[in-house]
Amino acid sequence: MVNKLSIDTFQSRLREFFYYPKLNRESDAVDDPAAFEHEMFTPRTDMSPLTSLYIHVPFCNYLCHFCGFYKELNQQYPEETRQRYTDSVRAEIRRYARSGIFAEPTLEYVEFGGGTPTSLTADQLASILDTVGEEFTVRSNATVTMEGDAITLGDTQKLRRLREHGLNRVSFGIQTLHEPLRRKLGLKPTIGEVRGAVDSIRTVGLPEYATDIMYNLPDQDVDMLLSDAEEILALEPDYIDAYSLTLWENTGFKNRVDEGRGFSSQPTNDQNVEMFERLKALMTDRSMRLSRSYTFTQNRDYNYIRASRQLISSGGNMIGIGASSRGYVNGAHYTNVSSIPGYIQALEQGRLPFDVAQSYDATEHAHRIMVLFPSMLLELEKSKVPDFERFRATVDNLKDRGLLWEDKTTLGITDSGNTWAGNISREFFSDEQRKVMTRSFMYSLRHRLNPYNQDQSGVPKNRTRRTVRTEPGA
Ligand SMILES: C[S@@+](CC[C@H](N)C(=O)[O-])C[C@H]1O[C@@H](n2cnc3c(N)ncnc32)[C@H](O)[C@@H]1O
Ligand code: SF4
Repeated sequence: MVNKLSIDTFQSRLREFFYYPKLNRESDAVDDPAAFEHEMFTPRTDMSPLTSLYIHVPFCNYLCHFCGFYKELNQQYPEETRQRYTDSVRAEIRRYARSGIFAEPTLEYVEFGGGTPTSLTADQLASILDTVGEEFTVRSNATVTMEGDAITLGDTQKLRRLREHGLNRVSFGIQTLHEPLRRKLGLKPTIGEVRGAVDSIRTVGLPEYATDIMYNLPDQDVDMLLSDAEEILALEPDYIDAYSLTLWENTGFKNRVDEGRGFSSQPTNDQNVEMFERLKALMTDRSMRLSRSYTFTQNRDYNYIRASRQLISSGGNMIGIGASSRGYVNGAHYTNVSSIPGYIQALEQGRLPFDVAQSYDATEHAHRIMVLFPSMLLELEKSKVPDFERFRATVDNLKDRGLLWEDKTTLGITDSGNTWAGNISREFFSDEQRKVMTRSFMYSLRHRLNPYNQDQSGVPKNRTRRTVRTEPGA
């Protein structure tokens, strides 16, 4: 039985959910990686034939203050570490490809994220791309995409080399073009370098590129956001991913913003909603289409969007490679260790680098499709969701609120529902997962961890514990 709507959930706008179920270090720590690997790699007849690959590269040349993802400063590691990391990534890819669970190891798309993957050398990245191509069949029209930053993407030679090894899309964060705010956020690239990256992408002839813009930043108002958006539109990216700032508990940046250190205005929920709606109106006016709850695209069909929607709606496998990566494979969900040495050590010793993991039953699998569909703005074929009617009470409540629409075969998000994609997702959590989410958040508070990955990313060392609490939306 699914809970009725919790009105409270809609008081503040939640960030999108990209992963489900949530794992919690307290209850899901992996004591015996070999046993878990054996379980995950036991062939099942009900496994989806669709698979994608995500590779996390946690190295950056500078650290932006707001970023809570797992990444480390390149300058703190010798070159040898990046080479060993590269080799470990290749070993982990082979392990999945040769696991025996894939009838034909075929990939619908490949994503490199981070961190800043493009801060590895061209040789290192080419060797990873080659390993992917040797171990898997990458569909002929598949998107192979890599996150970079404006500085490293300005390296035309590197980009050309990656293009020769199959890369066909890149993305990078502009966040804002407002210089004083950029400095306060620790964004290193100059506006000239941002433009240089776009020139380089065009020179090399990459078919698609995406940029990230951030909103609800401290000291940002609606006019600043809209002028950023106008300038970014003038660069004609294929995709603009718009992220509202998440302030993760226990991080130094959240502490600074909460205490008003260095900033005179704080993000608010009302501003979050208003900024998204104003951005959406501007994008629509400029013929950009909302293709995911956070992604505006040019008004044409993109294979990447189509393939990722298909994968979500069929409960496809998402292989996560690299430190802190999350994966969902053959009915099991795992997160790798958030530690470069820990990751390398596991692979060099012949273990998969699981940190937390869990296998799930068919009911949780159905919840997963329902939780993930709002951020992909899917028009969900109801027949693909096992026992769809179990969600009837929640669906009807959301329809009454004007957030979902439904016809005989399909369930979709309404225009006003777009703004609340994260909140809608949350309504489809199983009872058990609601508890896990709260427990995992409380565990992170107690142990002074960043709740996103339950790791140390962005957490200042030797500070007294803070008591400020927010909605457990991580
Ligand atoms: C993981 S980063 C990697 C991108 C790449 N290194 C770069 O700087 O362009 C991907 C995007 O996540 C977004 N992001 C990072 N920290 C965030 C936060 N605290 N809240 C919301 N979005 C965030 C930013 O827009 C960033 O460009
Ligand atoms: S936003 Fe990108 S460059 Fe900045 S710290 Fe995060 S991953 Fe590194």
